[in-house]
Amino acid sequence: NAGSLWGGRFADGPAAAMAALSKSTHFDWVLAPYDIRASMAHARVLNGAGLLSAPDLETMLDGLERLAADVESGVFVAAETDEDVHGALERGLIDRVGPEVGGRLRAGRSRNDQVATLFRMWLRDAVRRVSSGVLDVVDALTAQAAAHPSAAMPGKTHSQAAQPVLLAHHLLAHTHPLLRDVERFHDFDVRAAVSPYGSGALAGSSLGLSPEKIAAELGFDSSAENSIDATSSRDFAAEASFVLAMTAVDLSRLAEEIISWSTPEYGYVTLADAWSTGSSIMPQKKNPDVAELTRGKTGRLIGNLTGLLATLKAQPLAYNRDLQEDKEPVFDSVAQLELLLPAITGLVATLEFHTDRMAELAPAGFTLATDIAEWLVRQGIPFRVAHEAAGACVRVAEARGVGLAELSDDELTAIDPALTPDVRDVLTVEGSIASRSARGGTSGDQVAEQRERVVARVAVL
Ligand code: ARG
Repeated sequence: NAGSLWGGRFADGPAAAMAALSKSTHFDWVLAPYDIRASMAHARVLNGAGLLSAPDLETMLDGLERLAADVESGVFVAAETDEDVHGALERGLIDRVGPEVGGRLRAGRSRNDQVATLFRMWLRDAVRRVSSGVLDVVDALTAQAAAHPSAAMPGKTHSQAAQPVLLAHHLLAHTHPLLRDVERFHDFDVRAAVSPYGSGALAGSSLGLSPEKIAAELGFDSSAENSIDATSSRDFAAEASFVLAMTAVDLSRLAEEIISWSTPEYGYVTLADAWSTGSSIMPQKKNPDVAELTRGKTGRLIGNLTGLLATLKAQPLAYNRDLQEDKEPVFDSVAQLELLLPAITGLVATLEFHTDRMAELAPAGFTLATDIAEWLVRQGIPFRVAHEAAGACVRVAEARGVGLAELSDDELTAIDPALTPDVRDVLTVEGSIASRSARGGTSGDQVAEQRERVVARVAVL
């Protein structure tokens, strides 16, 4: 059975359905460059342990280099008979350097410690790419915030008009979860930077090899403390999957808002042609598909996380073949985010905001009622009383179909004698926004500082 790593004790090859079930080359091929790098490190360690002569090492490294080039160019691909990427690459090496030298590479290692190491290497790189894509979204949000430093909008709670805020404040609010996601990716990397190589199948290696040397050569901070744990744990993959899913969830909240904002009922934004799609039947349509696909794919990433956790649940130590199911969900979450992130970045960067429309709606729904209550508190009125009086202002204004600023002097004093005409000073959107000038608040100065701090964080992440 060509390409098999374990023929010796078998008189028969696998049944076709067995081989089909077992096969992973259609997805684990992305590990090939990492597998070859690790094989080079392993060959050097074999040489250091006196298990591979200097000329054989030379031959093997040269063969591995040629194999890497052939994998990269697509000249070398998985054969029908290859079970997984590891077996295929051994076949490729033996094709290039012959069985006498090529057959020595596998000493002291197992596919169990190999795959656990290679998956970590792949994921650490992938997470760096995803992090950089997330920071691009943050950059786009920050640039839009900078372009609209004083535009007001209705801030909402429960989807109901709440208090006016700056558009820039709202856009920056979406950067914070994303920055925390990037920090979570960094945290993941600290724990993923431990190499299982040298753990063998589960018990460790007896050949005097150096796991520490391989770990250092492959860019890990250290080698595993415990070979059983190293070959059988995938919490690093679950941790990354959570952060990938969390990132999607955070993006989906922005996406949901962009979908609403682009409807004529809101009229807050127009989407750029390049980042929207049309309808095959309704000629007038311009659809927010980037945002909808973000929302939709978020379900998929949540599924990938929960699927992986279900695969890991209750697996006894050490390696079980169940673990072959660990890679596809993680690969998929990364692939989906790599599609989404540049598209959302483009969508956000090109949003055209209709700030007049947003400013007009900012006071609608009596969003300045809190400002009346807080003005009364500054006049020495207890907040309970002030809240009642401001509520009465809303009731009177609503009954008469006017805004709070249009209440007459008589109407105001009838509600509470403390409500002098001066209260109208705070009954503007600008006044309300400017008054929220404590750290974190929506005043122009605060928001400008918040934006600078976001930019500074991006620069060091
Ligand atoms: N392809 C396997 C995986 O992805 C690694 C091979 C381990 N196979 C084995 N029979 N021990 O997990």
